[in-house]
Amino acid sequence: MWASRRRPGRTYHTRARSSTLLHLCLVVGALECGSAADPSVPQQATLRQLAEARHLLVGAAVAMNAYNADTQYRATLVAQYGCLVPGNVMKFDQIHPSPTQYDFANADELVRFAQANRMVIHGHTLVWYLSLPAWITGGTFTKAQLLQVLEDHITTVVGRYRGRIASWDVVNEVVDGTAAPLRSSLWLQVIGPEYIDSAFVWAHRADPAAKLYLNDTHAEGVNRKSDALLALVQGLRSRGIPIDGVGFEAHLTLTPPPPTADDLRANLARFANAGFDVRISEMDVRIADTADASALLAEATVYRNALDACLRLGSRCTGFTTWGFTDRYGWIPSAYPGFGRALPLDEHYEPKPAYQALIARLQEP
Ligand code: XIL
Repeated sequence: MWASRRRPGRTYHTRARSSTLLHLCLVVGALECGSAADPSVPQQATLRQLAEARHLLVGAAVAMNAYNADTQYRATLVAQYGCLVPGNVMKFDQIHPSPTQYDFANADELVRFAQANRMVIHGHTLVWYLSLPAWITGGTFTKAQLLQVLEDHITTVVGRYRGRIASWDVVNEVVDGTAAPLRSSLWLQVIGPEYIDSAFVWAHRADPAAKLYLNDTHAEGVNRKSDALLALVQGLRSRGIPIDGVGFEAHLTLTPPPPTADDLRANLARFANAGFDVRISEMDVRIADTADASALLAEATVYRNALDACLRLGSRCTGFTTWGFTDRYGWIPSAYPGFGRALPLDEHYEPKPAYQALIARLQEP
């Protein structure tokens, strides 16, 4: 998984390798664990170990195809991350493919895996304008009918994992932030803005202990969209809607430039000061496949700044999740061709400067 000890000047990787192997022993239980770690090599703590020591959930979204195909993917996930977020398998089209049929097979498998490896699960996502099945997008529903569909969906999915999924993205990417406060969607058009209130109420009813989040994009810095987002969640709170926190996706780039460290800090802090938990929920920093070493360092700084903004909030920042963890598998190449190098590990599972920056920040006070 990591660089060979023979590679000059990269003893860091060698240390990380021992630690990873140790975790692999714990997880898979099939290796000769007594001989896996070289006692003469100091152990390099993993992201997971450092984060757990300071009570921060560091998580990764999981791609089911990679999970199924690649044992290294699963072992690295367990070694490095204490929180698992299903990338796609809990989305409406996958988990509720026809009006009378739910398909929980993949979601059940990820929940089982996470529990077996003592990982916390963050559910993603109950209501989104994308990843909808044809029976929803092509259907003709009255407001009452669509409310019924949504109540059934949320009650069934959250209820199935009651007590096992710690937190949920209840509604995803609902803010518009330009002229209109809310993004146009089937839910908004047919039901109206109260679909958001109802979704939180039903999710809370189905699992009163689960922490409920509104997750959104392009709201990481102080800007018009994050203003609209703050107003929206304050409105929910003032109406007694059970919302615990806000997820900031953080799909960032170098060009256009990401929010500055000060901007990120100020924005997350104003949500925390307003009484909301915050999490960095889907971070990646896409840089060109052809980018040079300086771009990798710049990418690392963006990661560091986001983690720093989170850590400065103490327990108000409940998690730091990246959308995947290795450039071997990611959503970026299909969504943004030519910009695949977005995650902390490269396509060979080697730590990039971004990974090292996260480790270094977790080791600071
Ligand atoms: C993405 C997945 O990673 C892709 O595999 C899928 O094709 C589309 O969705 N914001 C979100 C995530 O909230 O659910 C999206 O995930 C990425 C953007």
